[in-house]
Order: sequence, then structure tokens, then C-alpha cells
Amino acid sequence: MEFSEPQSGSSLKVSRVIAVKDYSQTENIIRLTKHTFSDEVLSEVCDVIKSGNLVQGPKVARLESELQEFLGVTGAVLVSSGTAALHLALVALNIGPGDEVIVPAFTYPATANVVELVGARSVIVDISLDDLCIDVSAIESKVTGKTKAIMPVHEFGMPCDLTALMELASKYRIPVIEDAACSFGSEFAGKKAGTFGLMGCFSLHPRKAITTGEGGVVVTNSPELCRALKELRAHGMVPVDGRFDFVRAGFNYRLTEFQAVLGLAQMREFDSFLKRRLEIADILDRELSDVEWFSTPKRFAERMTVYQSYHVLLNESVDRKAVIAMLKERGIESNLGAHALAHLTYFQKTYGVQGSDFPNASRAYTHGLVLPIGPHMDDDDVLYLISTLKSVSV
Ligand SMILES: Cc1ncc(COP(=O)(O)O)c(C=O)c1O
Repeated sequence: MEFSEPQSGSSLKVSRVIAVKDYSQTENIIRLTKHTFSDEVLSEVCDVIKSGNLVQGPKVARLESELQEFLGVTGAVLVSSGTAALHLALVALNIGPGDEVIVPAFTYPATANVVELVGARSVIVDISLDDLCIDVSAIESKVTGKTKAIMPVHEFGMPCDLTALMELASKYRIPVIEDAACSFGSEFAGKKAGTFGLMGCFSLHPRKAITTGEGGVVVTNSPELCRALKELRAHGMVPVDGRFDFVRAGFNYRLTEFQAVLGLAQMREFDSFLKRRLEIADILDRELSDVEWFSTPKRFAERMTVYQSYHVLLNESVDRKAVIAMLKERGIESNLGAHALAHLTYFQKTYGVQGSDFPNASRAYTHGLVLPIGPHMDDDDVLYLISTLKSVSV
């Protein structure tokens, strides 16, 4: 296949790319992420459904213990989404009206939405353009007597500067709830991201490195918090003398058994998933480093990212919409990366903020682009992605 037609209505110029597959065919489109499950796993899912034991049973318990072991924590509480995980973490700490929680200006809005939903105030801090995570040096001036938690986000899998962040948090004795939604498998100085704070919250949505369909997990080394989280995810219910009592007002944030089967299957393959992600990231870094219209993600000595997304930052002059449309036309999915809270109506109305108040978040929001990465890509896909990007001049 050859592509050489110029983009209509855009300033992008695209030269000819030769591909070994027909990327206009739906089955060949290179998705941002795509998880596949073997027939064996699908039949395990069917077995669970046939058993009639559908909600939070032995499969969920087994997945929790595998997650504990993998992450090196004593408690893992599976829930119905990453958002539910973050919500429960705040409720478990009794954070509510009158309290403040520090969040990064660039993230998926769920991070700050849960702060709003418990009635607390989101204190927004700009990010660093180096790692796209909260600028730790800008946090201290935002700490007040009302600060009840710091919620750093390991954006696109890249751990934030956890040494500096944990030092600051311990100086002011503020609990850290890591929004590790995108960073399952990432590490900082050899320790798993999501296990540094009092609690870490992961998402198991299909856009993440492992998935249960929808799903999430809160991890902690505190037995008290683990117990509270388990009560909160299931109506505040606890077994007492062979019956159930309801000891607090809780939610229904349970995961199903058949979702846990998917998670167990993904755990068996995680090492190979990670290896492939890192391999592709190495190739992209190497091959795309000389492309002049965007910059590839930075690397840091102590940090290992799982590359939930391969995020590039386009030059100011590049029209992102045109790039996304050009890639789509060539069978490659791409998208904006994350959101700048100060560009979103709710946060503008609630806090009177605007994009320019957080210039780095604003830049990442308007010029960030995520590209496909993951074990669903074969070598031809990787090469085709690279040649397509290299064929563009702006
Ligand atoms: C940083 C961050 N936090 C929270 C979430 C919410 O996770 P979920 O979609 O599983 O509710 C996401 C999802 O993309 C995310 O990227």
C-alpha cells in the first residue's frame, strides 16, 4: 500500500509511505491499545457465569492476593473502576467539606472530580513539562492547615518525583493518595509506583496496561484502611455471628467474578506485556528522536514507566487536529493525552481559573498527542507508525 496524497485543508505535507498491510481495513487499524483474550480465558469466563457465583467471590480474592504480591503491599481492595478507587480512598480518610486536596493541573478529570464529590476543595498545582506530573516544587506554597491529602498522578505511567514528594508530605504530615491509574507496573527506584503513599489507586480500564473491562484497585499497607475500604466498597457490610451487619454507610463498588477472571489472565501475561511495551518505547525513542515537529517523552534515571501511553509533545505551531486526522486516514489511532482542569467548564466555574493560570498543563493539553503502544502491535505496525510520522513535514 502507498499513501502520498496531501492532507486537504491542512498545512501538513505527507510523503509516500509503503506499508505491508492494508491499514484501511478495520482489523488492521493500529489502536491506541487493544487487549485480547484466548479461547481458554473466554471459556473460564463462561464457567464463572454458569456457576451463578457472579459478584466478588474467590476469583476476586485470588486476584487481590496476586496484586498484593506483585505490588509488594499487604492490602489490595478491588473495586469497580479507578474512579471508585480514588473516591473510596478519600472517604476512607474522612476527607470532606472544609478540607483541601492538592491535585495536578493536568490529569484525567476523575482525579479532581472525586475531591469535589466528597465536598472538599481541589487545590490545583501546575505540572512540569519534563515528566507531565505535578511540579513538586510548586506544592509547598499551596499547603495550608486545611490540606488533608496530596494526590499526585503518575501521568501516562511515568512516576512523579516520589523522593521529593514523599519528603514534602512527611514534612507537613500530609497523607499521599497516589493516583496510579495509568502506572500499573511502573517503578521508582526499584519500588512499584502506587505503593509509596498511604494508598495507591489503579485503574483496570481497557486503556491501561492490564484490564478487567472496567475495574480498579486501592492498595495500602494499613490494615485499618484496608478494612475500611472493604466495608466501604460493599454497603458498609461486615459478617457478625453468621449474619451481616451494616457498620457504616457504604457504596456498591464491587468487582464481578468474571471481570476478575480477565484480570487473572492479564496478570499471567503481564511480564510479556511490559517487555513489549518497553521494547516498542525504545524503538520509538530511537527512531523518532530526530523528528522536528514533536518531542518524545523524557527518561529519568530512577524511573521506569510502563508507557500506558506513548505521549509526544507537538511544537506550538503544529495543528494537532490535522495530525490526528492524517493518522486516522492512514489507519493509526491517536488522541489528545490528558486534560488541563483549568480548561474545563466545571473547574473554571467553581474556582474562577483559566488555562493560562497553569501554563505547562495548558501546553500539554493543547499540544500533547498519544500514539499507539502495546503488545497488540507487531513489528510491521511499529515500523509503519514510525515511517508515517517521519513522512510528515509541517
Ligand atoms: C489519571 C487518572 N485517574 C483516574 C482515572 C479513572 O479511572 P477509571 O476510568 O478506571 O475510572 C483515569 C482514567 O483514565 C486516569 O487516567
